[in-house]
Amino acid sequence: MPEDRFPAFVVRRQDDEVSSGVEELGLDDLPAGEVLVEVSWSSVNYKDGMVSVPGNRVARTSPLVPGVDLAGVVVASDDPSLAVGTEVLAHGGDLGVSRHGGYARFARVPSGSALALPDGLSARQAMAIGTAGFTAALSLDQLEQRGLRPGDGPVLVTGASGGVGSFAVDLLAARGYEVVASSGKADERPWLERLGATTVIGRDDLDEAGGRVLGPEHWAGAVDCVGGETLARILQTLRYGAAVAASGLTGGTALQTTVYSFITRGVALLGVDSVQTPIERRRAVWARLATDLRPTHLDDLVAGEVSLDGVAGALSDILASRVRGRLLVRVDAGPAH
Ligand SMILES: NC(=O)c1ccc[n+]([C@@H]2O[C@H](COP(=O)([O-])OP(=O)(O)OC[C@H]3O[C@@H](n4cnc5c(N)ncnc54)[C@H](OP(=O)(O)O)[C@@H]3O)[C@@H](O)[C@H]2O)c1
Repeated sequence: MPEDRFPAFVVRRQDDEVSSGVEELGLDDLPAGEVLVEVSWSSVNYKDGMVSVPGNRVARTSPLVPGVDLAGVVVASDDPSLAVGTEVLAHGGDLGVSRHGGYARFARVPSGSALALPDGLSARQAMAIGTAGFTAALSLDQLEQRGLRPGDGPVLVTGASGGVGSFAVDLLAARGYEVVASSGKADERPWLERLGATTVIGRDDLDEAGGRVLGPEHWAGAVDCVGGETLARILQTLRYGAAVAASGLTGGTALQTTVYSFITRGVALLGVDSVQTPIERRRAVWARLATDLRPTHLDDLVAGEVSLDGVAGALSDILASRVRGRLLVRVDAGPAH
């Protein structure tokens, strides 16, 4: 049986005040669920940063252990398909938002959020990919289902130095696409080129319409992790019949656009949601992430790792766009004190 008390990074909200830090929790503090996991790795995603700031509308409960994804080993289970001893990963559902997530030594998760680690992926590798890599793979899959093929022309990735963006660059380049990476971090150009970007452009270079409702037909496809004005600019410059897979909001949530790109160029805006993806599709996408979509530069995509003690700083960093690629949380390292 797991130990009674264990360390967890906890965010507490009272009115407009938010406090956070490493505390001890007990198994009784965990929500109901079919699978109890001893967590070894989690990761830092933009959403984890969002739940930790005052006034956010993402966290649905307090206290909350953030961590929208986790990997570890099953230590108790009511689900015959996930027996004790199975190495698993879990993400999405309400994890780290309205139920305790991955920044704790133990997590209790519903069967619908957990799956056995695919062959060939360790717990650390699964969290190096994590929600970000999964979302990049979903984006690519949706664009290809819509008909995008290597050789069609340049595919734009925005927010390219972030988690979803950098995985999108890697996955697209490995499949033979011509990848144009848009990033606000000029210093990361060599790194993005190493991941496979053919061209790296700045965030501001996307304004090609110059005040008109439509700009040049530039992109054969796009993966957008930024939203807001960036997404509006992409819609103005997609080629006839092309699509953008939109997953993010780091650049804003409002979308101001016109219908012209849709009704005169037949473009499509494909919404990407990793949170409620049904478990069968999760298994299928993760199986691909371990095989034909396995990231080529997995080690290079990891910026570093922190223990639970380092989570607070890591959350500030991701909100301030100071993270390149992915930051891992080594949960079994325990806090320093
Ligand atoms: N729909 C889903 O299921 C799903 C799943 C995962 C993530 N997401 C969302 O996708 C986005 C990316 O997540 P992530 O975990 O990859 O975050 P991340 O690692 O922080 O990456 C976000 C990137 O966006 C760019 N960026 C940051 N602030 C910006 C601003 N003010 N204006 C324009 N660009 C900005 C930065 O890239 P550059 O400096 O290179 O420009 C940053 O690295 C987030 O909005 C997240 O909530 C959605």
